[in-house]
Amino acid sequence: MYLTDEEKRMLAGEKGFVPRLCMEYLVEMSGVAGAERLVELDGTADFHVPFTAMVPHYEFPIEELRKIAADGAHFALPTFANKGPCYGGTFVDGWEASGYAPHDEPDYHERAMQREWMELYIRMGLITTYSCAIYLAASYWPTPGQHCAWNESSAVPYCNAVLGGRSNIDGSFASAFLGKAPYYGMHITENRYATVVIDTERKIQTDIEWDVLGFAVGEECRLAVPALIHTGKPTTTQYQKFNTAANTGGSIAMYHVPGSTPEAPTLEFALGGKKPKREVMIDDAWLKRTYEKLNYHKGDSVEMVSLGCPHLNLVDLEKIARKLEGRKSKVPFWIMTVPTLYHQAEQLGYRKIFEDAGATFLSGTCPGAIGGIPDGVHALAVDAAKQAYYISGLFPDEDNTLDVFYGTQDDCIDAALAGRWHGEWR
Ligand code: F3S
Repeated sequence: MYLTDEEKRMLAGEKGFVPRLCMEYLVEMSGVAGAERLVELDGTADFHVPFTAMVPHYEFPIEELRKIAADGAHFALPTFANKGPCYGGTFVDGWEASGYAPHDEPDYHERAMQREWMELYIRMGLITTYSCAIYLAASYWPTPGQHCAWNESSAVPYCNAVLGGRSNIDGSFASAFLGKAPYYGMHITENRYATVVIDTERKIQTDIEWDVLGFAVGEECRLAVPALIHTGKPTTTQYQKFNTAANTGGSIAMYHVPGSTPEAPTLEFALGGKKPKREVMIDDAWLKRTYEKLNYHKGDSVEMVSLGCPHLNLVDLEKIARKLEGRKSKVPFWIMTVPTLYHQAEQLGYRKIFEDAGATFLSGTCPGAIGGIPDGVHALAVDAAKQAYYISGLFPDEDNTLDVFYGTQDDCIDAALAGRWHGEWR
């Protein structure tokens, strides 16, 4: 692959151990991705803390971080921390009341927060958003055309499709530290055009329609870039939902909603003036099948409810607070958001409303990411395709008996208040 003279010097170790390891990582990643050079990043980056890479061979010990931080090293571009520290994250706020061992234990929480790593990173400029939805808390976003290195299902399409930034699903310490990423995929204009047109029988308008459509589009399109042509103008919540679900059913880094997303004023623009390779009609029966696939339960008894995949924005938190005020949940009920929004929601009085209603307000991670729900719970209701899929798909309970109910936010709140499921595809 082509490397600049400066990149070659880094690779040869002339700039020190950490830049060499980062360059080796980016060169190997480029080989895997088919990138022939690196691109200079001018947007933002995020990575899963405290990892220096998600590949063990490229992890380095904390002593090296101490050295470079003491020498004044700084991330090359605005950089955010994805989810709470430790693998899959731990709860940042509300952990004491989670009832989920060991995350509710003070000693574990202290260890999991990885404070020394985080202090060193913060000294180097890391902003600890601690969320899969960094874009909700970042307060600073890439502008159209800026090259980024992001992660996470809801975030990468948010960067590409919603903001017009350019990112693959490859945020890493190396990219944030050197300000470079392999040049492939969504960095290249030609790859950003839609190749599949997705039509739907019904006009996609509600949150659950966006969520179910996202999963169906992910399964159908896999890595392709779709253009969705029969939808309302998506809200922030609906973008979050579609992105997350599309990256569960498949791996969608970019899509277009002609008339809504910035690179698609029209369908012709979305297609780059070419004919689509495929045109797909997702009819109501297809959506219903997708909904039913994400619902796998025997009876109607619900033992826990979890909302906040991806992490909830303030408008959704307000809606939930309004629906819960003066009522009482019959079952454990987790409500999850981003740490900064947690504190804002606290100031707005939502946390008290949640707690008075018997719910637990949490930030920083989620059941799917930390690998489960409290012992003894065998029936979970969620309003996110991703959570429904991963909670047992990736982390089956011991005897594979977890019942999963998937529906609207209202269906889930109703289930929490009644202890029973009344949701159905509408
Ligand atoms: Fe975020 Fe967990 Fe969902 S990490 S996207 S809330 S599975």
